[in-house]
Amino acid sequence: MTTPQTSAEPPGIGVLVSGRGSNLQAILRAIASGELAARVALVVSSRADAPALQIAAAHGIPTRVIFPKDYPSRAEAGVAIVAALREAGARLVALAGYKPILDASVTRAFPNAILNVHPSLLPAFAGGMAPRPQTEALAAGVKVSGCTVHFVTEQVDAGPIIAQAAVPVLDDDTVESLSARILVEEHRLLPYAIGLALSGRLSVEGQRVVVR
Ligand code: GRF
Repeated sequence: MTTPQTSAEPPGIGVLVSGRGSNLQAILRAIASGELAARVALVVSSRADAPALQIAAAHGIPTRVIFPKDYPSRAEAGVAIVAALREAGARLVALAGYKPILDASVTRAFPNAILNVHPSLLPAFAGGMAPRPQTEALAAGVKVSGCTVHFVTEQVDAGPIIAQAAVPVLDDDTVESLSARILVEEHRLLPYAIGLALSGRLSVEGQRVVVR
């Protein structure tokens, strides 16, 4: 059941996390500054010890820990995630450093309404959590990398791309320095893409996302 919305209430989003939570913090910062008209209705973590949970709690945001291995199957964990998001009234879902691959029960429940931020210019260096994409970018010797926000589909890191930001790869970069440069862009791009998706101005035409 979705929570009824009053006209004064900004749209609710759910944020899925597994770790540090700097992208969650960036979303909350964009909301606080008025740059993003939304409210975080629920934070779902796949781990009880994720620092992101403390960030949510410090902002008075309801949290749920849904550890997929506590469920008989990934599908049942997915059903629990969908139920929690619906109950909280989430219209849109952002994966902000969420680790497990989402079950199809979740992606099907929120078609073109789940966004993920990935630390590479997709389709390059798809798959794998940070810092794998950054490590692979350095190993490949690319001169430009960056981040991508895309809609989540059943194929990992392959959904329609909403926005990308590029950063240079410098000769003396380490995985840490490149990751830090990319992260600055992630923190800008994810709230921006959430705002675009909530605005209703996006349409998905095949693999392409068009902004109207
Ligand atoms: C980010 O680099 C994001 O692109 C990747 O995981 C990392 C999460 O960082 N999917 P944080 O938990 O948001 O700080």
